[in-house]
Amino acid sequence: MTTSTTASNGPSLAGQVALVTGGSSGIGAATAIALARAGADILVNYYSGEEAAAKVRGEIEATGRRAVICQGDVSSESDVVKLFETCEAELGIADIVVSNAGLQRDSAFAEMELSDWQRVIDTNLTGAFLVAREAVRRFQKRGLRPDVSRALGKIVFNSSVHQRIPWAGRTNYAASKGGISMLMQSIAQEVGKLKIRVNSVAPGAIATAINAEAREKGADEIRALIPYGRIGDPQDIARAIVWLVSDDADYVHGHALFADGGMALYPGFIGNG
Ligand code: NAI
Ligand code: BGC
Repeated sequence: MTTSTTASNGPSLAGQVALVTGGSSGIGAATAIALARAGADILVNYYSGEEAAAKVRGEIEATGRRAVICQGDVSSESDVVKLFETCEAELGIADIVVSNAGLQRDSAFAEMELSDWQRVIDTNLTGAFLVAREAVRRFQKRGLRPDVSRALGKIVFNSSVHQRIPWAGRTNYAASKGGISMLMQSIAQEVGKLKIRVNSVAPGAIATAINAEAREKGADEIRALIPYGRIGDPQDIARAIVWLVSDDADYVHGHALFADGGMALYPGFIGNG
């Protein structure tokens, strides 16, 4: 068992390399920094906004870890290969891959443009496929390093409560996250024998740019959907991911970890039904 603890009493990821997609903002940025605090060197992928990515790099370097930022679109096969090549050349083959990049393009169903459907599926689902496929290929190329981890590699998808909760006005988004649920479980079933662990986090409402407008319009309505009574912070998800990729979670495989303050508990039934 290689797990030891860090000064903050979390699990140690010392000697490991992590690649985080969509890592320049929100949950991805918090995750990249949390993984670095746990001891990993980090490849931070960003799509746009180099300045924000450079800020995350600075925060990682302040923890004493190495960081590289790399622009790329996860829905592009060649960009995804470039991310992993850059990671390998600059930091070494990744031990940990967090497929986090995602977006919403909301629209009433009858009015939804094919381009809005396609953009969300391409980024959230095809992007997750491309990133995970490249991760599995590279993990096998490197081989097991029992001194740093019991697993050959770890993949975590950032899914959503909407892999389970249908979402009117966001059919493209809910379909993409429902797709991630089966993608994750099917990959886990297939690659477990290679000692590759595959899991998801399924966050509820977390305060980031993706829902800034919705929170501005109706934070109380959102809170009413959360039995635990608070909107989440990116750190809530980052901490869950650090645990999932550590050897403390070595027997957790093919699991979607809901970190949602109870949003998936059908809170509409409180006092009703
Ligand atoms: P965010 O908008 O801050 O982060 C999304 C990131 O993905 C951004 O950095 C964006 O540039 C990047 N991205 C978008 N398209 C990309 C592409 N084609 N290639 C590479 N990167 C791309 O919002 P947040 O909340 O941090 O989102 C991160 C993930 O968390 C998403 O997958 C989202 O679906 C998921 N999520 C968020 C929840 C929330 O309440 N904030 C709840 C459940 C899931
Ligand atoms: C969405 C957010 C939303 C949350 C809870 C996430 O998947 O991206 O906009 O606040 O789910 O509904």
